[in-house]
Amino acid sequence: MGGYDEAYRRSIERPEEFWAEAALDIDWDVAPAAVSGGGRWFPGGRLNTCHNAVDRHVAAGRGGQAALIHDSPVTGTVRTITYAELLDEVARTAGMLKGLGVTAGDTVVIYMPMVPEAVVAMLACARLGAVHSVVFGGFAARELALRIEHAEPKVVLSASCGIEPARVVAYKPLLDAALEQSAHRPAHCVILQRPQCPAELTPGRDLDWHESVRAAAPAPCVSVAATDPLYVLYTSGTTGLPKGVVRDNGGHAVALRWSMTNVYGAFPGEVFWAASDVGWVVGHSYIVYAPLLTGCTTVLYEGKPVGTPDPGAFWRVTAQHGVRTLFTAPTAIRAIKKEDPSGNFAKKWDLSGLRHLFLAGERLDPDTYHWASDLLGVPVIDHWWQTETGWPVAANCVGIETLPIKPGSPTKPVPGYDVRVLDAEGRECPPGVEGAVTVRLPLPPGCLPTLYRDEERFAASYLTRYPGHYLTGDGGHIDADGYLFVMGRIDDVINVAGHRLSTGTLEEVIAAHPDVAECAVIGVADELKGQLPVGFVVLKSGSERDPADVERELTALVREHVGPVAAFRRAVVVARLPKTRSGKILRATMRDIADGRPYTTPSTIEDPGVLPEIADAVNGP
Ligand code: COA
Ligand code: AMP
Repeated sequence: MGGYDEAYRRSIERPEEFWAEAALDIDWDVAPAAVSGGGRWFPGGRLNTCHNAVDRHVAAGRGGQAALIHDSPVTGTVRTITYAELLDEVARTAGMLKGLGVTAGDTVVIYMPMVPEAVVAMLACARLGAVHSVVFGGFAARELALRIEHAEPKVVLSASCGIEPARVVAYKPLLDAALEQSAHRPAHCVILQRPQCPAELTPGRDLDWHESVRAAAPAPCVSVAATDPLYVLYTSGTTGLPKGVVRDNGGHAVALRWSMTNVYGAFPGEVFWAASDVGWVVGHSYIVYAPLLTGCTTVLYEGKPVGTPDPGAFWRVTAQHGVRTLFTAPTAIRAIKKEDPSGNFAKKWDLSGLRHLFLAGERLDPDTYHWASDLLGVPVIDHWWQTETGWPVAANCVGIETLPIKPGSPTKPVPGYDVRVLDAEGRECPPGVEGAVTVRLPLPPGCLPTLYRDEERFAASYLTRYPGHYLTGDGGHIDADGYLFVMGRIDDVINVAGHRLSTGTLEEVIAAHPDVAECAVIGVADELKGQLPVGFVVLKSGSERDPADVERELTALVREHVGPVAAFRRAVVVARLPKTRSGKILRATMRDIADGRPYTTPSTIEDPGVLPEIADAVNGP
């Protein structure tokens, strides 16, 4: 087998041959008529993703192997589910959904904490050919309502509560509030009752999860087209309305299975742990689908890197369950480093089984890279991707060839991705020069074919800026050795603790406050979370409110409407916002001021006198 260069070249020059070979690792009901056609992957092929993730492993003799380990320090439990048990649970849960009228093509919203039933729910939908849409538990009712209204689910699957270290989060009142706000109402909600906070069920609409599943007959896998949607995952765009990223069945299964061997160097039977949440794309791809498609054991961790109970939690789980590959976000490592700078907690555990630490979700700063690398003594691999792509765009593909690491770079484009850095005119930037990071079309299998029910927004968001290229929304450069450096977003998306948020969403909530005339939210640098949102607010003329009161109300409003995950703790009342003569808010300049960097006064500014006012508001006069 050749090295990285050969694999990469083959994937770009002969993609049909490359992906046809990868498709051999997937069980097809009907083999694809072609590898690609009409802008889609594997047209004519038919398969079932759940069969590939569960049934086929049981048939091949893996029934007794652990499929899933639910490690939950917040409830003090560890539960192991074998592939045979998973098959039984998934088939009966699919039977329950079928009994509620869910058939192929219907949507189902899943709003659940990190419990095995969340994974079972996703696979049960896949089994029926139904399209799941998982909503992260840290989002508030309004965000859930927006997603329910757009996805129009027949059924919502939820739980009575989630458990955060300091509090039990009752999900049911959030779900009820979301359904009140949404113009679409599902016929049924199925609620998993957790003993920490059982919920009251609404008669006629709500069903008890365990009772319903117990009463259901197992349902078989439904064969779907490779190009049919497997799921929709909403992610933040630049407006308040989230984008519904669509994933197909065929391309997704092929790409994710390929990525396990070639990007992660992970093999069937091994323990793979992505310490993320099923509500994010990392959870979809690397807690649920990729490890299970591969016949690995996946760890579902209901806890935090610190405080559950200490900064040794990740090392305990790694040692206890024999984790070979650990995947998390840099912010989690920074949280551990902050509480245990000398790494004493890691020394308590036998980590000799760990082979790689993969990090993604935000830029891996060189300090964090060096700390983790020195502590663990295994390759620490930065890799870059996004909800839209579903799997890594740039990585050190350790399954093909481990390349030398350059701290601050996610290494090189993964086979399948023709990454180009372009300047404002669409010309390729020379080595070392920053520009917009794009991927020359076609995107490889597994990447979004469209946005759910919004083909126009798909084209407008990703394809029109640079014809023939997919716009990632990130800026960066490629160095003379072909290493990619991704430096941050070039749009109004911010990244808070590896969570992607739209400043537009936060601004909409703030602007709805009766005393607010206008506002701008920007992401400012934060040592732990990477970025934190800060809102600059101008009050309506004549408002006699105490600015401190309004600031407090605004943080509460964002928490209530967007959710605690936004970590919006700072609103600053200012007299005016800095704008260009054409009325555009000068966000980059505000960011420089807020980050304490020296700023230059843009020549397009309407009134340069505003900038010192902003600096005073941030730092105090
Ligand atoms: N349900 C309900 N609330 C949730 C939640 C969930 N699933 N997840 C988070 N929250 C709440 C938290 O309780 C917290 O609320 P608080 O303001 O009352 O404290 C808030 O949302 C922010 O949570 P979080 O982002 O987890 O920050 P934190 O300050 O509690 O912890 C870290 C900081 C760094 C430890 C944490 O952000 C972390 O583990 N990050 C890992 C990032 C990650 O997995 N990203 C996924 C992409 S790979
Ligand atoms: P999400 O869609 O939530 O996964 O967020 C994707 C965004 O997170 C990307 O567009 C980047 O801005 C950022 N991101 C993810 N991984 C990395 C990384 N390894 N380096 C730099 N930025 C990253």
